[in-house]
Amino acid sequence: MRLFLLGFMGCGKTKLGKKIAHHLEIPFIDLDQHIEDQSNQSISQLFKEIGEDRFRILEKQALLEVINRNSDFVLSVGGGTPCFFSNMDLMNKSGTTIYLKLPSDVLYGRLRAAKGNRPLIADLSDDELKNFVTKKLNEREKYYSLAQVIDNSPNKSPKSIISLI
Ligand code: S3P
Repeated sequence: MRLFLLGFMGCGKTKLGKKIAHHLEIPFIDLDQHIEDQSNQSISQLFKEIGEDRFRILEKQALLEVINRNSDFVLSVGGGTPCFFSNMDLMNKSGTTIYLKLPSDVLYGRLRAAKGNRPLIADLSDDELKNFVTKKLNEREKYYSLAQVIDNSPNKSPKSIISLI
């Protein structure tokens, strides 16, 4: 089984993904971690050195690599992954996609305390972050909603997600 977890930064993809993979007894893969391992650089360093456009190309390559090399996994993708290069279509053709949906005020609250290693928001003031989350979430929902939508507030248990699949 190939399961793709997606959603905005801070929605809980990695935390929940690990638990689901544990229950299903299949590997958990985090796409950002995979990119960092392959490039030997952090996501923040990559954004600084090659810029977002080229990061999106690396991200696409990493996504293809994970899909082509593995038939069973829970993959947590980056918040932007579904929104570039028909990645949503690729993921839907390759397995089950799940969007962990949270409202923008909850995401804002979480991200205020976790900006540091996220280059798109690291330098934003709280007010700027609030506007960014509202605007970006709105733009991205059209991609995210091509997956099965799961309301993740309050946080879902891995078992409840598994039973939905
Ligand atoms: C991004 C989300 C990040 C990471 C990069 C860009 C985005 O992943 O891929 O910083 O465009 O929303 P997380 O959603 O895991 O934080």
